[in-house]
Amino acid sequence: MIKKIGVLTSGGDAPGMNAAISGVIRQASVHGVETYVVFDGYKGLVENNFKKVTPEFATSILNKGGTAIGSARLPEFKEEKVRQVAVENLHKEGIEALVVIGGDGSYMGAQKLTEMGINCVGLPGTIDNDIVSSDYTIGFDTALNTVIESIDKIRDTMESHNRAAVIEIMGNGCGDLPLSAAVATGADVFSIPESKLSKEEICAQVKTLHDQEKRSVIVLVSEKMYDFSSEQLAKDIEAASGYVTRATVLGHVQRGGKPSAADRILGVNCGVFAVEQLVSGHGGLFVGLEDNKLVARDINSTLNMPRKDKTKEIARVRELNRFF
Ligand code: ADP
Ligand code: F6P
Repeated sequence: MIKKIGVLTSGGDAPGMNAAISGVIRQASVHGVETYVVFDGYKGLVENNFKKVTPEFATSILNKGGTAIGSARLPEFKEEKVRQVAVENLHKEGIEALVVIGGDGSYMGAQKLTEMGINCVGLPGTIDNDIVSSDYTIGFDTALNTVIESIDKIRDTMESHNRAAVIEIMGNGCGDLPLSAAVATGADVFSIPESKLSKEEICAQVKTLHDQEKRSVIVLVSEKMYDFSSEQLAKDIEAASGYVTRATVLGHVQRGGKPSAADRILGVNCGVFAVEQLVSGHGGLFVGLEDNKLVARDINSTLNMPRKDKTKEIARVRELNRFF
């Protein structure tokens, strides 16, 4: 039976990561296993930046936004000699296994560490919901609530002034945040990587809404899709449609805040599940949510899974949000 495990957060932070850390620490304690937090992701492994923590620490961070143990990106971790330093540091401290909370990139590091003798289990922590092997990721629900609240507020003022708004939403190549937000707010137009509209198509759709005398228009766009800014898109929509149009880039407000109930529960349950794998001697695994049930799969198999086809869902939401 293992005696000491480590936990780290890597890549972009997400609300609910602390809940996952908390689940790890408390479930380890159930088994009499000590937990060490590793500060700033893989950087802390290489720099020997570990600290033993207690279940009391676990409870104190559970409801907090961000990650209490820091996160960082360390591209050099792809090099074997850098990972070797990390493995030596873990051996010196007697840490035999690791929970890695992050995205796809972080799991590649976890897989490589497992191959070097440190059993690792990866947990899905990102607001983007872009991890194919999990229906939902820790942080998505909280970010979605933030996005929805922001859209509602912008809708209020657009409606008062008979205007249009462009709202730019994060997702790192995945349209789940704007797509779900469109369902929850009735946003009139949306353009996401899975179904990208040209500037001309967006302008034409908004113009039609103006012709139909719609009082306000909300256009959701995913970040990093166009070679022009959302500000510029708003100007072009204004010129084409007749609506005074404003742009809002929601930005990092989407990454912060206290985790929602769903993210806390998913985070804690994932942390508990990961510890169960490690104490049974398993590693090289990724924990994902499938049909509301946690499952553990080989990291390698999850990295190659094809993206889900969202065509029907996108068409359904476009039809639903059409203005008559
Ligand atoms: P995310 O985990 O959110 O996808 P990144 O892709 O930035 O974020 O990856 C986070 C970290 O994981 C990187 O900074 C690096 O330390 C580590 N990593 C990514 N890819 C690899 C790889 N192929 N081998 C080893 N470590 C990796
Ligand atoms: O992966 C989370 C995320 O917030 C993405 O949605 C976004 O593209 C990226 O991270 C932003 O990264 P940074 O905080 O480094 O600007």
